Amino acid sequence: MADKTATLNLGGKDIDLPILTPTKGPDCLDIRKLYAQGDVFTFDPGFTSTAACDSTITYIDGDKGELWYRGYPIEQLAAKSSYLEVCYLLLYGELPDAAQMADFDTRVTRHTMVHEQMHKFFSGFRRDAHPMATMVGVVGAMSAFYPDSTDINDPMQREIASIRLIAKLPTIAAMAYKYSVGQPFNYPDNELDYASNFLNMCFSVPAEKYKVDPALARAMDLIFTLHADHEQNASTSTVRLAGSSGANPFACIAAGIACLWGPAHGGANQAALEMLQEIGSVDRIPEYIGKAKDKDDPFRLMGFGHRVYKNFDPRAKVMKETADEVLGILGIEKNETLKVAKELERIALEDDYFVEKKLYPNVDFYSGIILSAMGFPTSMFTPIFALSRTVGWISQWKEMIADPQGKIGRPRQLYVGADRRDYVEKSKR
Ligand code: CMC
Repeated sequence: MADKTATLNLGGKDIDLPILTPTKGPDCLDIRKLYAQGDVFTFDPGFTSTAACDSTITYIDGDKGELWYRGYPIEQLAAKSSYLEVCYLLLYGELPDAAQMADFDTRVTRHTMVHEQMHKFFSGFRRDAHPMATMVGVVGAMSAFYPDSTDINDPMQREIASIRLIAKLPTIAAMAYKYSVGQPFNYPDNELDYASNFLNMCFSVPAEKYKVDPALARAMDLIFTLHADHEQNASTSTVRLAGSSGANPFACIAAGIACLWGPAHGGANQAALEMLQEIGSVDRIPEYIGKAKDKDDPFRLMGFGHRVYKNFDPRAKVMKETADEVLGILGIEKNETLKVAKELERIALEDDYFVEKKLYPNVDFYSGIILSAMGFPTSMFTPIFALSRTVGWISQWKEMIADPQGKIGRPRQLYVGADRRDYVEKSKR
């Protein structure tokens, strides 16, 4: 991969750094031997210029606004594929043929139930706990319920843990929801497809059967697909870092869920809808645009901006179209929140502040409007992101474990604390 080099002159000494060439995207300076040869570290908090690994899974061109899973553009997958097919693609690298797909579908479907003892585990949580708080705990506890798939050195156990996670996350997310609203848990129904089963587990009650609308199930499936992977974002890097120590996959995914919850990351979908509802009507938009531009105001337009995309987030485009479709299906022609969102987007995209900083709507800007119209409370938005992203996390984790060059992730630091000093007795301080 390295056919070019760059030379770094450090205090008169030349150090040759190999330049690695990717399939697509910027070249990477290979600095792995820099400390040994030059006795210096590199400094890059926030990883703004650092590739932490090589990967074959997902590619983003932030300037063009492109996202590919295993080379396939997200728009094509959104229009033609299904979430489970995308899961197969992310996990195994190729689109499945009919027999492979049927087998994968059966393997996932057969694992949708959770250990019965897990029901009791839920009852230890407060009913008013955020479903994300419950999910972090329950997914972390999966290693206690499924210790037979925690040996990361056994490829078969890695495979079973992967299938278990993809299959059980919707069940756990739906249980977290049911618990928070004081309703009984629904068992999965293996007659239903992945998205319909999730909707049924969330919205069916013993007193009244829930009839899954196929058009809404399709929209749910699409939301899962759009969130399935996004290369080395904060939660995925968290999963990789946790996994680099040899931690089991359930613990690693729980760490990813914890990271995703933050409002700068997956928690932005809840924050974006709450912001749109707070704005309430189009005449208040200028006030909020003003707040977002004010350096002394910590307010940011939630669902806007991205570390990598300096153009439209392609997922936001599909989400916007889906929002119109879903509201149409549900007969909600007049939705004030969608009106505010579209107008906010229009005004922001014409405003110099947002244009100069290349801030565009991201995946979280429109997703909340769709989920809310489907009947989900805002607290369920990030759990839905988490269950969709589980396949991405697990694919990246598997890729890392299988890498023979794998090392524990261990960043260095620029120490700026006190120099060595001697302990002073309490009476003399
Ligand atoms: N509203 C107002 N100003 C913003 C926004 C925003 N949403 N996002 C960035 N900026 C400004 C920021 O103040 C900074 O200005 P300056 O250069 O004058 O200091 C400049 O744009 C660059 O921002 P940054 O924070 O240095 O960029 P970053 O790459 O570190 O952060 C981000 C990316 C996504 C955390 C940020 O854009 C943000 O906080 N957005 C709102 C939260 C959000 O929607 N997050 C979801 C991201 S997509 C899904 C996911 O990852 O889960």
